[in-house]
Amino acid sequence: MKIGTLGAGTIAQAIARHAIRHGHEVVLSNSRGPASLAPLARDLGARAAAATPAEAVAADLVVLAVGWPQVPDVAAQLPSLDGTVVIDATNQFDSPSPNAKIADLGDLTGSEYVASLLPGARVVKAFNALFAQFIAPDPRHEAGRQVLFLAGDDADAKNTVKGLASQFGFAPVDLGTLREGGRLIQLGGPLSGLHALKQD
Ligand SMILES: NC(=O)c1ccc[n+]([C@@H]2O[C@H](COP(=O)([O-])OP(=O)(O)OC[C@H]3O[C@@H](n4cnc5c(N)ncnc54)[C@H](OP(=O)(O)O)[C@@H]3O)[C@@H](O)[C@H]2O)c1
Repeated sequence: MKIGTLGAGTIAQAIARHAIRHGHEVVLSNSRGPASLAPLARDLGARAAAATPAEAVAADLVVLAVGWPQVPDVAAQLPSLDGTVVIDATNQFDSPSPNAKIADLGDLTGSEYVASLLPGARVVKAFNALFAQFIAPDPRHEAGRQVLFLAGDDADAKNTVKGLASQFGFAPVDLGTLREGGRLIQLGGPLSGLHALKQD
């Protein structure tokens, strides 16, 4: 697959490294432009490239990994996403400050809000509930595979993400819809930050 990233920081890079290790291509993007990502792309090797956000979403699958306050800004730059699978790895911190609060979205879960900003996208919430240090390394441990919770409204899109996560070595666990499962794994939910291993 070709995987596009919106954001090229800690989480995008962790997912990019897994993807490249398993033979996928990665197109990274940020707000400062492809030239700012050239050293990172070089470090990631021949299967990595840098582009604008609008170019990155032409990939087969897209990873949204920007800070929550930047989500509307990045969404506004994108062409319509006609069925593209978007992994929403964001957590709805209302600011980058250490005193950040959970953004108030009324009745919506975080990923329902994200989906409302990305018309046509098939949004799957995943990778948000794990701290980066549990995403970056090989998720296969002696005691079991790192559990990766996910949620989404489109079964095919979830299968795509489950397949990718399994290939990386995670143990994907489908929690249902963006409304029900998304609520469990989003910031403030009971499974947010829960790090578990699944024995095979
Ligand atoms: N770190 C964790 O442990 C962790 C774990 C799970 C989920 N998350 C969530 O994942 C998301 C990303 O976290 P992170 O730790 O990877 O953050 P990060 O390291 O700060 O990376 C954020 C990236 O977004 C880019 N960016 C900012 N504004 C943008 C815009 N308008 N358009 C495109 N790119 C933009 C930044 O690059 P420029 O500033 O150069 O544009 C940067 O590459 C957050 O929502 C976070 O809550 C984090």
